[in-house]
Amino acid sequence: MDTTDESARGERKVFIKTYGCQMNVYDSQRMGDALERDGYRQTEVIEDADLVLLNTCHIREKAAEKIYSELGRIRVLKSERAAVGRELRVGVTGCVAQAEGAEIIERAPVVDLVIGPQTYHRLPDALKRVARGERVVETDYAVEDKFDHLPASARSAIARRGVTAFLTVQEGCDKFCTFCVVPYTRGSEVSRPYSAVMDEARRLAEAGVREVTLLGQNVNAWAGTDASGRPIGLAGLLRELAAVPGLARLRYTTSHPRDMDDDLIAAHGDLRALMPYLHLPVQSGSDPILKAMNRRHKAADYLALLDRIRAARPDIALSGDFIVGFPGETDADFEATLDLVRTVRYAAAYTFKYSPRPGTPGATMDGHVPEDVKTERLERLQALIREQQVAFQESFVGRDTEVLIEKPGRHPGQMIGRSPFLLPVVVPSSAGEVGDIVTVRISETRPNSLMAAGAEPAVMAAGAEPVVSAPAASEPQLRKIA
Ligand code: SAH
Ligand code: SF4
Ligand code: F3S
Repeated sequence: MDTTDESARGERKVFIKTYGCQMNVYDSQRMGDALERDGYRQTEVIEDADLVLLNTCHIREKAAEKIYSELGRIRVLKSERAAVGRELRVGVTGCVAQAEGAEIIERAPVVDLVIGPQTYHRLPDALKRVARGERVVETDYAVEDKFDHLPASARSAIARRGVTAFLTVQEGCDKFCTFCVVPYTRGSEVSRPYSAVMDEARRLAEAGVREVTLLGQNVNAWAGTDASGRPIGLAGLLRELAAVPGLARLRYTTSHPRDMDDDLIAAHGDLRALMPYLHLPVQSGSDPILKAMNRRHKAADYLALLDRIRAARPDIALSGDFIVGFPGETDADFEATLDLVRTVRYAAAYTFKYSPRPGTPGATMDGHVPEDVKTERLERLQALIREQQVAFQESFVGRDTEVLIEKPGRHPGQMIGRSPFLLPVVVPSSAGEVGDIVTVRISETRPNSLMAAGAEPAVMAAGAEPVVSAPAASEPQLRKIA
């Protein structure tokens, strides 16, 4: 039994640590909001927590191994607690939970419950069972929709998270790329129903959210029927969402090249709310490697697709994911990847060394690439992408860009927001308030952000009081448009 005053009053605290992709970020928010309704307050300080949840990622070996080192640290915390008669409950959720299930408890006896991504709505019940002394492992693919069974997030919880929000509309994957665990950890492709998505989007907008990013492992495979029963795809859903009062910006991630249909491409041309930034992973520029990866398209198909997307929206910024050192990858295959990157000119890209994952076909293929070769290829690819990223950022200097203001900046007199192209922009606080979309002139680039004119922090003498620089009210480049 817990003996602290707080738990006696029913006020417990939960600490949730999130690993992996945005889908996990969204799931953690939903779990936290649901637990709040069950009397748990969220804390950022693990030492204060009565319940610790690690929402995990299984995509690469390192990601999965991190969990066990974290559990080692939590074990110490739990025994310190036990010494003073106070309980600490520990849960593992997410993709490691799904992939390893009961093995986690065997390897890390500190763990009380293991819950896979499709059964989060059973968390309150699982906690009750843990309180009765059970150790709970729930890794079925539930037939019911977990989000339908999780309570809707409270307006205060949404507002606390700010003016941008994630909204999961699709889960799972049927693509079975030969390197990837996702089809095994998240199950097959399921779309959340249109009405559930629209209701949630309206709730987000009513709580002050201006920008929504639709999430899915293969978000562009979303399919549903609109209010009049007409079948629609992601483009149709985006068009409906664009009409929700208050929502000014829409994004979606992650897409598979095979699911970019004509309607979605057209939406990039004619839907003002749809931001001109697309994350479209290709993984490799070599056809034999794409084939071995089971990506089911060639490099030329990807480039032709980008041509069509750019024809619809010429200024679209592209980002991608790349794996180097997939089994069988030769120098020539890798050069083909560099060539593809040179042709595309990415605004950003995520690069990974191939990590063999148990149970995936790639793990047992011939021709594993030595670690030092993977490292060398990764460095070369990253250098090329970095060059493109810098060129992309610098292309904005001297130009006007719209910024959605998200929060106060690091220095007094500054606010931070994002451009349509997802670049963080530092703007002077006189530009507007959180939630406003303003137009600013970019004066310079910083390593990972752009600076708007008038936002440069004042240079302070050591020991001097911070000076809040007040740019002239008449600055012509600042125009509030929303
Ligand atoms: N659903 C998305 C992304 C899934 S995981 C898609 O289809 O693109 C995110 C990225 O992790 C992948 O795009 C891939 O580049 C990388 N990744 C997945 N499995 C990997 C592995 N075994 N080793 C290295 N990188 C991997
Ligand atoms: Fe993994 Fe491929 Fe599915 Fe993306 S499309 S989640 S990389 S199997
Ligand atoms: Fe990782 Fe699972 Fe996302 S494996 S990348 S957390 S879907």
